[in-house]
Amino acid sequence: MDLEQIKQLTRELGQGWGYAHAARVEALIGLIGEGLDYDREALAYAAYLHDWGAYPRYAQPGVDHALRSCQVAESEILPATGLSAAAQALAAEAIALHDYRDQRPHTSVESLLLREADWLDMLGVIGALRAFASGPNDLPTCRDLALKRCAAIQGRLTLPRARALAEPRLARMARLWEELEEESLGAL
Ligand SMILES: [Fe+2]
Ligand SMILES: [Fe+2]
Repeated sequence: MDLEQIKQLTRELGQGWGYAHAARVEALIGLIGEGLDYDREALAYAAYLHDWGAYPRYAQPGVDHALRSCQVAESEILPATGLSAAAQALAAEAIALHDYRDQRPHTSVESLLLREADWLDMLGVIGALRAFASGPNDLPTCRDLALKRCAAIQGRLTLPRARALAEPRLARMARLWEELEEESLGAL
């Protein structure tokens, strides 16, 4: 199985959000990883596979989606690629550690890049709209989800390029909340 086939499956399985999110994560890795030495091929696989455990085909109730993505990647997908055993292990570990609620330290440049790219996609206009798109149809609940993600992520970005990208995104979000408050006329 090659990367193109995995992209195609991500399109098919990832409902409306999975593929575009993974493609943005891949692009963000390119931006924040500039000048760093890492396994680009392994990380491209990890970027597309990292949320498969959240897709209906693979999600399991009570199992954390990052762990589930890692299980699926390790058992069903990565062994069918041409990646070396070491690259497969690197990708699987990055997938397992990507979630912003996971307080474990990163274990490689690859796991650091995947998580910080994933976190950046929760900031800014895109981050806010993703929180609203995930529902429910209840504005304060969606806004609070976006705020909760921001609060958890803000102090944890370490890569200078990730921090530089986060700054204007956080400023745009702050403006969005102000304007939302103003337009809600006290009834959000
Ligand atoms: Fe995730
Ligand atoms: Fe993600």
